[in-house]
Amino acid sequence: AATVTYDFNIGWVTASPDGFARPVHGINGKWPIPNIEANVGDQIVVNVVNNLGNQSTSLHFHGMYQYGTAGSDGGVGLSQCGIPPGGSFTYSFTANPAGTHWYHSHDRGQYPDGLRGMMIVHDPVWEAGLGVTDQIPLALSDWYHDQMPDMLHDYLAPGNTIGDFPSPVAHLVNETTNPPSFNFLPGKKYMIRIANIAAVATQSFQIQDHTMQVVGIDGVQVVPQSTSSISLSAGQRYTVIVQAKSNPFTSFKYVAKMSTDMFTRGVPSSLQLTLQGKVLYKSKLLGIILGLINSILDVSNLSPSTTLNDFVLAPLDGQKLLGPVSQNIAMSFNQTNYPGIGARYSIGNQPWVEQDVPSLFTALSTGAAAMDPSTYGQGSVPYVIMSGQIVQISMKNNQPYPHPMHLHGHEFQVVARGSGTWNGNTNNLPQTPLKRDVVTVPANGYTVIRFIADNPGVWFFHCHIDFHLAAGMAATFIEAPDLLQQSQQINPASAAICLANDVPASGN
Ligand code: C2O
Ligand code: CU
Repeated sequence: AATVTYDFNIGWVTASPDGFARPVHGINGKWPIPNIEANVGDQIVVNVVNNLGNQSTSLHFHGMYQYGTAGSDGGVGLSQCGIPPGGSFTYSFTANPAGTHWYHSHDRGQYPDGLRGMMIVHDPVWEAGLGVTDQIPLALSDWYHDQMPDMLHDYLAPGNTIGDFPSPVAHLVNETTNPPSFNFLPGKKYMIRIANIAAVATQSFQIQDHTMQVVGIDGVQVVPQSTSSISLSAGQRYTVIVQAKSNPFTSFKYVAKMSTDMFTRGVPSSLQLTLQGKVLYKSKLLGIILGLINSILDVSNLSPSTTLNDFVLAPLDGQKLLGPVSQNIAMSFNQTNYPGIGARYSIGNQPWVEQDVPSLFTALSTGAAAMDPSTYGQGSVPYVIMSGQIVQISMKNNQPYPHPMHLHGHEFQVVARGSGTWNGNTNNLPQTPLKRDVVTVPANGYTVIRFIADNPGVWFFHCHIDFHLAAGMAATFIEAPDLLQQSQQINPASAAICLANDVPASGN
């Protein structure tokens, strides 16, 4: 395996993805930030220097297991302190699992200001078997003109008793409102790697007159499944294969559509919910001619399609339903107005708050007490799970909108999902359940997941709507603290520096 090294200098740059110029977090003077790419099993080393001047930062590599490297997981207050202005930090971990992933800041609702990009971990053997000619990374996202520190300041204020937040003002594909064209050669196969890297919005994707074969979902290879449309909530990814037509007589459109499910403050009139790109065939010239012909076609020509229900996807490895359950954790998603504080979310008994001593440091430095949840700080919402346990989380959503829930360090099986309340019946669970790392819990509904505690560490479990996370919608899994203390080397003394590093986030 190779070592793949990235030197990332994070600093402010000006960008106008939708025509409006604003400061964004760039890397090495550029935005959009680069994709990270490696083969499964490679060692990825990311040397970060924080040149922001006025904000701390971090990077989380969404989808990576981080076996034995929990300290490289990037969650501020969870596994590290924020990297202070002028500071640096090295992330080093194995590229595992393969899949379509992404990376983003995990410091106080920072990534919607631009610190988010795709991360592709190739499985060369699997990809060769699929016979694709080319791979196309496609990042779907939403965008604001205001900066997160300012929006969070208002959103988290005591006066916001209902906890609503601003709706996005733009819709982006690969961080622009002008989606790129795909160039197809007749008869060839293409792999499109689609990631929803948005702050808030769920998106759907389809290609006019082409069927997609889903071969991967998050970091899981699946038994191929055909569909004309897929839907991705914030944080989710799909890897699809598209077979190009052998005799195209026109070019085609692809369409990314944004859902407004979570837009509690309505839909801004400037916001284009539907973005279209082109699929161009053969040579550039022919593509242009076909594009002209096609420009008279309207998106309304796209036949209405049913979006794939991810529940039908079975993992290629055939992993069976995990059981029997050793620990059942019931979580209910509540939003509460705390007088003098404002509206907050909780998924345990209180909202999660950023820890001055990251919970990983506590787990590593407290010996036997690390098994005791009361050892962890106020607002850390810790769940201690022991090595080898099969953990079941049954989630009940009491809000009229969905929440995409993400677990770090694992993929989990999705064993039940529906509206209302789960009846607890385990007789009819799927035998080879869907596995992924972000799952939607439907509005006023439930989702039940299972995973095996095989990765000692301290892992975030949170909603991937970044405003919800900022309002406390997170918990912490303290996984196998006994093994963790033997297996990982982080100097607990570094815990002391978090407070000193703390820089109040401000807009630029
Ligand atoms: Cu995509 Cu906790 O992260
Ligand atoms: Cu949420």
